[in-house]
Parts: sequence; C-alpha cells; structure tokens
Amino acid sequence: MKVLVTGGCGYIGSHTTVELLKEGYEVVIVDNLINSKRDVLDKIKKITNKSVTFYEIDLCDKEKLRDVFLKEEISAVIHFAGLKAVGESVEIPIRYYKNNLVSTLNLLECMQEFNVKKLVFSSSATVYGNPKTLPIKEDFPLSTTNPYGTTKLMIEEILKDLYHSDPTFDITILRYFNPIGADKSGLLGEDPNGIPNNLMPYILKVATGKLPVLNIFGDDYNTVDGTGVRDYIHVLDLAVGHVLSLKNQKTGLKIYNLGTGRGTSVLELVKKFESVNNIKVNYQITKRREGDIDACYASIDKAHEELGFTPRYTIEDMCLDSYNFIKNNN
Ligand code: NAD
Ligand code: UD1
Repeated sequence: MKVLVTGGCGYIGSHTTVELLKEGYEVVIVDNLINSKRDVLDKIKKITNKSVTFYEIDLCDKEKLRDVFLKEEISAVIHFAGLKAVGESVEIPIRYYKNNLVSTLNLLECMQEFNVKKLVFSSSATVYGNPKTLPIKEDFPLSTTNPYGTTKLMIEEILKDLYHSDPTFDITILRYFNPIGADKSGLLGEDPNGIPNNLMPYILKVATGKLPVLNIFGDDYNTVDGTGVRDYIHVLDLAVGHVLSLKNQKTGLKIYNLGTGRGTSVLELVKKFESVNNIKVNYQITKRREGDIDACYASIDKAHEELGFTPRYTIEDMCLDSYNFIKNNN
C-alpha cells in the first residue's frame, strides 16, 4: 500500500515515515523543505534500509501536486505539511492562512479527483484553547487564540464538511499534545534554526552551550510546583499512532487525542533531563508567556479503545533520546 506523506521531511513526518517503512508500506513524500532538509531522506534510508520516493513540491502548487497523483498510485494520505510556529503566525497571519489552508484544499481536491479517500490529518491540542477541566477529551469545546491554531480548527471544519458531503471519505484527525524525543539512532530529531519557541528544543540549546540560560515562563501557575504542566509524548509513540490510524477498521470521520494522559511540569522536565543525562541545565524564572495556560493533558481513552494506542515511552526516554540526537548533530 502506497502512502503519500506530506511534510515527510519534517520532525513528525520523518519519524512516521520510518514507522511506515518498518511496517511494510511504500512511502511517497511531498515536501518543499521550507522547514526541513533533504538529507533526512538519507537518514531514513540508513535507519530502515528502504527508500522513499521524494518530490520537492510546494503543496500550494496544485498542478505539480496533481502530477504526483497522476504518477503514483496513492492509497492513503498522511498530511503533516504546514507552518507551525505560534508566535510567527501572529506576526504574519496571511502567510499562515495561505500556506496551511491552500495546501490542504489543493490536497483534498486531488484526493477527490483521483478517488483517494483515506486521510490522516495533523491537528493539535491547541484547538482546545484553555480547557475548563482535565484531562481533555475529544468532545470538549474548541477555540483558538492565534492564527496557527485557527488554521488547524478551520481545516478540521473543512474535513467535517467534506465528510458530510461524501461519506466515502475515511478521515482521521489526530490532535497531538507535546511531541518531544527522537529516533533511537540519533539521526532524526528536532533542531530548529535560531532561538526555539518550544521547551525541549530550548533545553537542548542550553544543554549544548548554544544558549546561556533557559527562561522558565512563570512559577505562579496553579500546578504542582507553579510551572506550566503539559502532556509530553515521545515522537516514536506518535509515529505509531499514525500507523494505527491507517490500520483502523472503523471508518468515517474520527478524532483522537495523541498524548500520554500524564502531565509534567516545566521544572519536573528540566530536573528529569538533568538527572538522566547527567548534565546541568542553567535556568531562571521569568514572567509568564502571553497566552500560556496552567495545565494541559489528554484523555487518551478513545485512542486506546479504538486504535489500540498505548504509549510505550517515559519522560526519561524522551529526555535521553532528545539529548542523544542533539549530541549526534552538534
Ligand atoms: P515540521 O515543520 O518539522 O514539518 C512540517 C513539514 O512540512 C516541513 O518539512 C516543511 O518543509 C513542510 N511544509 C510546510 N509547508 C509546506 C508546503 N506548503 N508544501 C510542502 N511542504 C510544506 O513540523 P512537525 O513538528 O513535524 O509538525 C507536523 C505537523 O504536525 C504540522 O502540521 C504541525 O502543525 C502539526 N503539529 C505539530 C506539533 C509539534 O509540536 N511539533 C504539535 C501539534 C501539531
Ligand atoms: C506549543 C504551542 C501549541 C502547540 C504545542 C504542541 C505555543 C504558544 N503553543 O504549546 O500551539 O500545539 O506547542 O507542540 O507555542 N516554556 C518555558 N520556557 C521556554 C519554552 C516553554 O518555560 O523557553 C514553558 C511554557 O510556558 C509551557 C511549557 O514550557 O508551560 C511548554 O511550552 P511549549 O513547548 O512552547 O509548548 P506549549 O506552550 O504547550
């Protein structure tokens, strides 16, 4: 079975491609490399001993995308491609709306034209806004506070409308919580250019001496130690969640949280990172970051019951594997 993976050179897409290849799927990647590098393809080959077919294409270019559907016999699509930096989306919203929405609309038009009806889409826990209670379930109210999150919510709505108009579509929306960690080989991982926005990439920059100090955004939240609590999930578990979604016998439009169901505070994560890697991470407490919430963690009961999703990796594994990747790629 041939799977089109959009954004397959990116952080989550590359790990999912490895899992797909290990499970015997053929993979076609479309990526414009706006936030990734071509050498990821060699690394995927090194890990799996298998090759993928790669097209360097912007999904906003419908004709080029159409050519891929003409050439390849695609059976299913996993749609990762998109811009994802929350702060940047506030500064350049039109770029975010255009990239994330136009690329998705082009993809859906091609899927309709070529009768490809199976889709897995990368959504985000950001669509839950500031939840009133925890853990977060899939039927909680949805809202967003930034253009990035709004693109995710809009795409979810588009997918629901599409499904209602054509129930032969089989669509899975996956709402990821906080993916961290890296492939055990140390070859694939997340290493953003410049100053990272997210916690683990920032910890890694401090641990490797590229940045002097981690700013912990507030210690007066209503949490175990006052720092923000999130549901960190190993990217390898997330990758498995995608393959389970492809194999799922249940058809229709399905929505699942992918997290671990456990919350970890910023300080707990930093302390764990220090102890498992035997390294000091210099940090200071600073003021809250605008828009941040106290705590966010998933109920994963639905993914467990319907997909058989059971995360295998601990916070210790996530800290070890993230650091292993960055040491290998410094
Ligand atoms: P990433 O930036 O590493 O990967 C996205 C890939 O898409 C990149 O390789 C980029 O070059 C490509 N891309 C972007 N726009 C494109 C376009 N128009 N045409 C072709 N390729 C394009 O991001 P990631 O962390 O792997 O995230 C994958 C998906 O999961 C994204 O949709 C993201 O919004 C979503 N998501 C990520 C997180 C997270 O914390 N990483 C959390 C929730 C949801
Ligand atoms: C971020 C995104 C969200 C996305 C999610 C999944 C923002 C505002 N939100 O959420 O849309 O769905 O990632 O990956 O970017 N922290 C620090 N210092 C830092 C960085 C972070 O203390 O330098 C704290 C934050 O205050 C938060 C926690 O670490 O409590 C996690 O932050 P981050 O990794 O940015 O993820 P989220 O804010 O959960």
